[in-house]
Amino acid sequence: MDLFDKLANRPSPLGPFTSAGYGYYTFPKLEGPLGPEMKFNGKDMVVWSINDYLGVGSNEKIKQVDAEATAKYSLSAPMGARLMTGNSDEHEALEKELAAFVHKEDAQLLNFGYQGIMSVIHALVDRNDYLIYDELSHACIVDGKQLAMADKSVFKHNDIESFKKQLYRAAAKKKDNSSILVVTEGVFGMTGDLGILPEIIKLKEEVPFRLLVDDAHGFGTLGHDGSGTGTQLECQDGIDVYFGTFAKAVALVGAFVASEPRVIQFLKANVRSQIFAKSLPMPIVVTARERLKMIRQHPEWREKLWSNTLKLREGLIKIGYNVLPSESPVTPVLTQGSTDLCQDIMRIMREEHGIFVSGVAYPVVPKGVVLIRLIPTAAHNDEHIEKTLSAFEAIKGFVEAEASKISA
Ligand SMILES: Cc1ncc(COP(=O)(O)O)c(C=O)c1O
Repeated sequence: MDLFDKLANRPSPLGPFTSAGYGYYTFPKLEGPLGPEMKFNGKDMVVWSINDYLGVGSNEKIKQVDAEATAKYSLSAPMGARLMTGNSDEHEALEKELAAFVHKEDAQLLNFGYQGIMSVIHALVDRNDYLIYDELSHACIVDGKQLAMADKSVFKHNDIESFKKQLYRAAAKKKDNSSILVVTEGVFGMTGDLGILPEIIKLKEEVPFRLLVDDAHGFGTLGHDGSGTGTQLECQDGIDVYFGTFAKAVALVGAFVASEPRVIQFLKANVRSQIFAKSLPMPIVVTARERLKMIRQHPEWREKLWSNTLKLREGLIKIGYNVLPSESPVTPVLTQGSTDLCQDIMRIMREEHGIFVSGVAYPVVPKGVVLIRLIPTAAHNDEHIEKTLSAFEAIKGFVEAEASKISA
């Protein structure tokens, strides 16, 4: 059979969303300047679906830095991979600043978080090693696991007993030259709960292992200084390899891993997605440095993010929605319902209330569950929050009626 003819029957992680509703439920186009107020299909929307947590993407000073850096360096420079011709003082300075920001000794820049972390996992373990990861890990960790040569096992989401079982199982099978790498997340991006990092780290006393934490959503948003979930949970030292991306709080492309100098030195020579790929363009590196500096200088951005998060969460709870025990700005609204209900909520919110929210249904979440995810940012204001809460109040009766069809 022809390969292309077969593709139509291949399941996609998007399920029924794959082709139905292209441009509306999937691949929608938000237009106008980046921020909490954008246009969708020509209509004004209050947007709750972009991860620009600190409002950095709409900051006028930063836009100026972007323009000046692009004029100075062009978007092409430097050409080549870091290893060959793509290195610069700016790249190295950014690595030092990132390491200092997250309280680690050294860091390596990654062109994209997704490929970067996959490759880091691949580089860190070999066929003698064990890789243990949380079952709700982001797709990039799951793909990194596929690449890794190590023996793999998974523990139930944030379940310390399940983790312990896998850890002891790996320890029992271990040979002299075997090591264990544990991978989990700082903030789970769909549900907003934090990884049980202190509990995991405590078990190092029983079985030695190294811990890699994907802190995509925690970097810049959590901890008194924005240095992430480890700082928030007072266990940053127990994270052996810290991963952060620029794709959320820094509102940019690019990412990094931070660790001990000997580990970073090893990764620079072994992370294949970086060795064999063009380095980050100079304007991205220059603006990342400036953004990091501004994030450090403006703790009030993080305070505003959190006050908006609390107002939104408390308002939703008051109306009677289940927002899960999220401990981060990620605000999930959970209900029972079908894929149709998920689409209905998105459509009614957009068309009748001018509120742009995104949701997921089966197969991204279990069958019969609908999760609408709201991402508050420092750029939202009280008016945005009130308008959104009124809209959620207005659709409550409809959502409840549809949910009861599932439970009936
Ligand atoms: C938990 C998590 N890890 C990794 C990534 C990938 O990062 P990037 O967008 O920089 O490729 C994302 C999404 O951005 C994410 O949510």
